[in-house]
Amino acid sequence: MSDIRKHFPSLAQGRPGASTIFFDGAAGTQMCARSIDRMNEAMLDENANFGGLFQTSKRAGELVTKTRTAVAEFFHASDAREIVFGQNMTTLTLAMARTFGRRLKAADEILLTRMDHDANVAPWLSLAEDRGLTVKWLDFSTETYDYELTQLDELLTSKTKFVAVNYASNVIGTINDVRSITARAKAVGALVFVDAVQYAPHGVIDVQEIGCDFLVCSAYKFYGPHHGILWGKLEVLEQLEPYKVRTAPAYAPDKFETGTKSREAIAGVLGAIEHLQSVGMGSIVEYEKLLGAQLIDGLRSIRGVTIHGKGAQGRVPTVALTVSGKTPAEVAQALGIDGINVWHGHNYGWEPVRRLALLEGGGVVRVSLAQYNTGEEVDYFLNKMEALLASAA
Ligand SMILES: Cc1ncc(COP(=O)(O)O)c(C=O)c1O
Repeated sequence: MSDIRKHFPSLAQGRPGASTIFFDGAAGTQMCARSIDRMNEAMLDENANFGGLFQTSKRAGELVTKTRTAVAEFFHASDAREIVFGQNMTTLTLAMARTFGRRLKAADEILLTRMDHDANVAPWLSLAEDRGLTVKWLDFSTETYDYELTQLDELLTSKTKFVAVNYASNVIGTINDVRSITARAKAVGALVFVDAVQYAPHGVIDVQEIGCDFLVCSAYKFYGPHHGILWGKLEVLEQLEPYKVRTAPAYAPDKFETGTKSREAIAGVLGAIEHLQSVGMGSIVEYEKLLGAQLIDGLRSIRGVTIHGKGAQGRVPTVALTVSGKTPAEVAQALGIDGINVWHGHNYGWEPVRRLALLEGGGVVRVSLAQYNTGEEVDYFLNKMEALLASAA
């Protein structure tokens, strides 16, 4: 990982990013060179609509097929037809809620969680309102920062049709045991939708091992462009009837991909996956674990900083914190002046921030690490935090 930064052109000398500390990866990472190159190539050489009987169109079609195959491998999926592309995770999820809702009826139950990003909550709440569904909530512990899995047996009933959970939290960073949640949901016949947006940059995804029915992520969180990806079990996708124009294909995955696809974004997804494969997920996980531990240990030693989340284990390196005497916005602003990008507020994790009773106070400061961050950057950040706390005292 020592030369990883050379794969990120925005960090090169002479660019504004060279002197910026990007601790904002959970809201979107810097793009890797492979992804940028793939996008440029697509705009130059694959710039035609799909399905034409000429070479440029054929190349565009081949690019999409190649990317579907690469994403299927990335997810350990068994079939490239299980990969659906869309504008972003939120848009894909809203569309899937509307589609899935056609199969549900009043008094059916769905299970949502207090830890999820609103993109895996609000679409299902809207659906519940439209269809008269009963919504149940899986809580998380504000001590261990894990889901309260002991509640699950009571929450799941023969009426539960659908469960939406996150793989890793975009606020508190917890990695959830989606495999066992899925197994328990399956035992009552529910379908399971996993939000892997925050997990994807930090760990290996194996949809077959998880056993879920859907899994979503977004390429801009793993060094690619702003583009969403949905994986769905083929037999489930085949049964669903999305809203679509009559002239669009009636088969999966194309029936879910409304309008003209962004070939340049799809090319960028391919580049991002090629990048991750060439670096190796094993090395990424190992490196980020060390960096995350350095960050958490350092923060713990600063008086006045409270981490809202686990220690270094069982989490992604996304850390929510509050600082005594300063609002999250004040902290983010002060760090921003020092060239350190961090986010503040609820970060769309409205449920978890509310559950932590932090909404009124302006949410949290969210510090999130990516593969291009360094130990020196973490030290620099910790020094700035110490200075900030000293000035607040
Ligand atoms: C956990 C999680 N889920 C969903 C989303 C929404 O993703 P998108 O911006 O692709 O709609 C985000 C974005 O930050 C996220 O962190």
